[in-house]
Amino acid sequence: MRVTIWGSGYVGLVTGACLADTGNHVVCVDIDAAKIAGLKQGKIPIYEPGLEALVRSGHESGRLEFTTDIAAGVAHGVFQFICVGTPADENGSADLQHVLGVARSIGEHLGEYRIVVDKSTVPVGTADRVKDEIQRVLDRRGVGAQFDVVSNPEFLKEGAAVGDFMKPDRIVVGTDNPRTAELLRTLYEPFNRSHDRLLLMDVRSAELTKYAANAMLATKITFMNELANVAERVGADIEQVRRGIGSDPRIGYEFIYPGCGYGGSCFPKDVRALAASAAEVGYAPELLSAVEHVNDRQKRVLFEKIERHFGGKLENKVIALWGLAFKPNTNDMREASSRVLMEALWNAGAKVQAYDPVARDETYRIYGERPDLLLCNRAERALEGADALAIVTEWREFRSPDFELIKKTLREPVVFDGRNLYDPEHLRRLGMRYYAIGRGDSLA
Ligand SMILES: NC(=O)c1ccc[n+]([C@@H]2O[C@H](COP(=O)([O-])OP(=O)(O)OC[C@H]3O[C@@H](n4cnc5c(N)ncnc54)[C@H](O)[C@@H]3O)[C@@H](O)[C@H]2O)c1
Repeated sequence: MRVTIWGSGYVGLVTGACLADTGNHVVCVDIDAAKIAGLKQGKIPIYEPGLEALVRSGHESGRLEFTTDIAAGVAHGVFQFICVGTPADENGSADLQHVLGVARSIGEHLGEYRIVVDKSTVPVGTADRVKDEIQRVLDRRGVGAQFDVVSNPEFLKEGAAVGDFMKPDRIVVGTDNPRTAELLRTLYEPFNRSHDRLLLMDVRSAELTKYAANAMLATKITFMNELANVAERVGADIEQVRRGIGSDPRIGYEFIYPGCGYGGSCFPKDVRALAASAAEVGYAPELLSAVEHVNDRQKRVLFEKIERHFGGKLENKVIALWGLAFKPNTNDMREASSRVLMEALWNAGAKVQAYDPVARDETYRIYGERPDLLLCNRAERALEGADALAIVTEWREFRSPDFELIKKTLREPVVFDGRNLYDPEHLRRLGMRYYAIGRGDSLA
């Protein structure tokens, strides 16, 4: 089938590459000319395991093309996937300017029947707005072309995006048109083979499902963070509590890891946008507001532990920081906890020596060269001359480090662990000071 993908970011590029891999002819359109020029030369703008090989083979087969030509994009695909960003606006609502911009582009060039698929995360009612926008432009042009607008939210996880797209837990399709539903079922058939994962529903429910999923996951994490803060004040160990509750199948072990807060391009903005949508229709979303508030506070917990340990004197202290990306296996630093920690340390006069396996360039892009930031290309290098080590991202390579080396290299053997990677008893036996999240006397 012929598919056009609007937006070549995490979602658009993965969707395009995976659909091309199963034999479709895909054209990816982006307004970022530099990104498209790079993609044409095989340069992948993001770090996502498995994506580069998939894009390369799609490109070589001629089934995956990249363009900035809007008219060509509308002319190409029976399916027009909207995969552009929906960041938060100043009130926390989803900013739909890019989504509606694509709708206008489609309206400007629409001739034959097209299925417009909303894959971006968008508030309930957006499919209607996309439809109205396309129709408005068609009316202005005096063209009577047919089209349909479908909601098909994406649930892939950064760092595992290709695998998630290829083997989805579910494929949510929101439409009231049975013919369109059948066409989408056919497109998704290669990803839906072992058992039927396609959930057909009305458009509004599909739109809300995406926000419900992210808000639920953000709530689970936040609940554990709140409990961790209680645990460390009452002398309990949240890791033992985690196992104790995870063993209950109604609760489960997934997504109950305490830490220094969630970040990324989705949870923070989606919780905020869902709360804003609820408020707009006169409902006070108290739980969602609390999740957002508790998470913002949690992102400062590591800094507060560091500040307390050094008696509030952070001027000219050097902190080694392991992990910059908002989670492992990505270079995405949107709303990353590392940013909150680094900025708080800088404000207090401290210097940061940071290491991340893949997010170095992204950190340069965000902060540029500055005297209080040294970006290292090895984890050990970040420790040299540092007063303490802080860990923010649970990359695999941080899981079993050489503790003797850490102890020897740091000026003071103290570790602030925002992801509870180590056994407190082990570090204590090695003569190291270890602060984790919600672990017994780690506050003392
Ligand atoms: N990143 C994730 O893990 C993830 C997962 C599920 C859903 N989502 C949702 O998918 C959407 C896209 O997220 P992302 O992380 O891929 O975004 P992104 O910022 O990585 O990419 C968006 C791309 O859209 C392009 N763009 C903007 N306006 C355009 C236009 N008019 N025409 C063509 N291209 C245009 C931008 O240049 C950019 O390359 C968001 O709504 C997000 O919430 C993201």
